[in-house]
This record gives sequence, structure tokens and C-alpha cells, in this order.
Amino acid sequence: MLNVHILTLFPDFFTGPLNVSILKRAQEKEIIKIKLVNIRDFSRNKHKKVDDYPYGGGCGMVLKPEPVFEAVEYALEDVKTERHRVILLSPQGKTFDHQMAKEFSQESHLILICGHYEGIDERIKTIISDEVSLGDFVLTGGEIPALAIIDATARFVPGVLGSSESPKDESFAEGLLEYPQYTRPEVYRGLRVPEVLLSGNHKEIEFYRRKQALKRTLEKRPDLFKKYKLTDLDKELLKSLDCKE
Ligand SMILES: C[S@@+](CC[C@H](N)C(=O)[O-])C[C@H]1O[C@@H](n2cnc3c(N)ncnc32)[C@H](O)[C@@H]1O
Repeated sequence: MLNVHILTLFPDFFTGPLNVSILKRAQEKEIIKIKLVNIRDFSRNKHKKVDDYPYGGGCGMVLKPEPVFEAVEYALEDVKTERHRVILLSPQGKTFDHQMAKEFSQESHLILICGHYEGIDERIKTIISDEVSLGDFVLTGGEIPALAIIDATARFVPGVLGSSESPKDESFAEGLLEYPQYTRPEVYRGLRVPEVLLSGNHKEIEFYRRKQALKRTLEKRPDLFKKYKLTDLDKELLKSLDCKE
């Protein structure tokens, strides 16, 4: 069971995405529990103001420390275990990836802090465990990264995916991109499904898929391919790629 608190100024942002498909089903089955915490509720200001001008000048507004600290403390009251993380979404953080999603799925509680405006008062860093970025670009808020992290992490929580949706063959699972997928019809606009996939020969299908995974990783993600440790079989399959494809 994974508990998640999302600390945000825009709880409504999440209503659509968290209430469809796999995440909806996971919450209904109580495998994942997601609570939205409105940072604004922790403002002491009578106008519910949560931001202020940056010390030292400069453009934009900065989220004040008090409401964010108190929202984190509120979420921590629900945490019953050591196995938790307090994650600040930030373009300056470590880039989120497959491995991080797997690690987060082994925690029992995640608290995700979504920044906005120019970001959050730097002192928030004293109470977080992780600073995580979705990539080298700047978004207007941490809500999209929070959703992406929850979605990718949930896929590793036992019971979230049905048995037919196992993440084990998927891209990045073993350091390679996934092989190409086809479904019916056999021929569409003159484009044929590769013959081997219709053969029923499981060994041949396995070789074909492995070869394709190697090929597309080599072509599309040479950085991943470089890090991947080839097996003897992979080396054989790669040789055959050289001659025929
Ligand atoms: C406009 S951004 C602030 C950017 C900040 N001034 C900087 O230059 O590093 C506002 C908020 O969006 C979120 N955010 C923006 N880009 C992000 C990214 N690539 N990954 C994770 N969070 C991001 C963070 O929570 C951030 O506090």
C-alpha cells in the first residue's frame, strides 16, 4: 500500500487525472491512497496570501516558508513509518527515472511538494529528503511532475497493474527500450505484421523481440546502449542484425 500526500496550491488540477484508468482503480482497491493538501489552507494571512517578494530583489514571487513547512508537518502526522520521503519538485533536482520510480514504490509514504511562482523559500530544503526534477525544462508548477511521479511509481506497486500489464518487459526495465508491438489486423494499409510474430514459435519470437530491443536502443538511445551489459546471446543477435537488417 502506497500513501501519497500532494501539497499544492491547485488541488483541482488533480481531479481529472487521478480519477481515470489505472490510478483510479488502484485507489478504489486501496492499494494507493492519495490525499490532496492545499498549501493555501496553511496561510496565516487573512487574505490567504502564500507568496511574497524575493529578498534581494528580482522578478516574480516566492512561496513563503510558513505555509509550506506547516503543510509538510500536517502530512507527516499521517506518516506511521520510517519508510517515507518528502520530495520537493524542482527543476534543479535529480532527474526522475525508472530506477527512482522503483525506489519510491518501495516506500510506504510519499509527500510531494509542488512549488509555484519563482519557487519556494530555500529553507524548505531543510525538511525534504529528495529534490526531484522531471527534466531540463521549467514548468509553471510542480503539479505535472507530481502526477508523472505518482503514475510511474504506482506501476511498480504490487497489484496496481493487472498480470497482463506487467512492467517487466517494458522500456528501461532491463536497460533496453521495448521491442515493437503489433495487434490485429495482420495487414493494415498494405503494412504487414512481421511474419515471425504470427509463427507461434515462442523461441523465435523471443529472439526477434530481443534483437529489436537491442536495435532500437542502439539507434535511439546510444547512451543507454553504452551502459547496457550485453550477454553472449545479445552479441550473437547483434551480429545477425549487421548482416540482414
Ligand atoms: C517556475 S518554477 C520555478 C523555477 C525556479 N525559479 C528555477 O529557476 O529553478 C515553479 C515550480 O514549478 C516546479 N517545476 C518547474 N519545472 C520543474 C521541473 N522540470 N521538474 C520538477 N518541478 C518543476 C517546481 O516545483 C518549481 O518550484
